[in-house]
Amino acid sequence: MFSLIAAIGQNRELGKNGQLIFHLKDDMNFFRETTSNHKVVMGRKTWESLPSKLKNRKNIVISRHDFSGPDQIVHNLAQFIKKHQNTDEEIFIIGGGSIYSTFLPHAQNLYLTEISASDLAADTFFPKFDQTKYNKTLIRKGTENGLNYSISKYTLK
Ligand SMILES: NC(=O)c1ccc[n+]([C@@H]2O[C@H](COP(=O)([O-])OP(=O)(O)OC[C@H]3O[C@@H](n4cnc5c(N)ncnc54)[C@H](OP(=O)(O)O)[C@@H]3O)[C@@H](O)[C@H]2O)c1
Repeated sequence: MFSLIAAIGQNRELGKNGQLIFHLKDDMNFFRETTSNHKVVMGRKTWESLPSKLKNRKNIVISRHDFSGPDQIVHNLAQFIKKHQNTDEEIFIIGGGSIYSTFLPHAQNLYLTEISASDLAADTFFPKFDQTKYNKTLIRKGTENGLNYSISKYTLK
């Protein structure tokens, strides 16, 4: 089973110049708590944006190339999706934009930190999705550095 986890702005902004736009401690804590001890799947560009491998998680990177560092590199995305989508194991898809778009049609859950801010210079966006197809549960909300945010879980009906 796949779950997408992302932090997005008002226009579904995800990143710019290969980096995150918003930096909220609570979002980072939620990300760590939620994904620890699970497999995390990311695109090669998101992998390169990380300061280091994510601890206590199996780091799986999608790329057409081979390189060292990740625990696993996946070349054949279709095969990977087929193998894992109907299992009980929750596998977290952690970005970026291209990988969220590919996995959205195959995902059971979306964990979204929605931040009340925008950035006109954003160059990567979370895909549009039909909210009526999901049940939404608020996990928590707060304000940090003057930014209001809410963390919710969307589960396919
Ligand atoms: N706000 C958030 O929650 C969040 C989370 C994660 C990332 N981000 C941001 O998102 C941005 C990066 O996203 P992105 O869309 O530019 O890049 P990305 O999705 O992280 O990585 C794209 C790369 O993944 C590989 N890939 C994608 N589809 C593939 C396929 N079908 N088969 C094989 N390989 C495939 C390719 O790697 P190769 O070129 O090596 O073949 C491609 O260049 C950054 O700004 C990052 O900070 C934000």
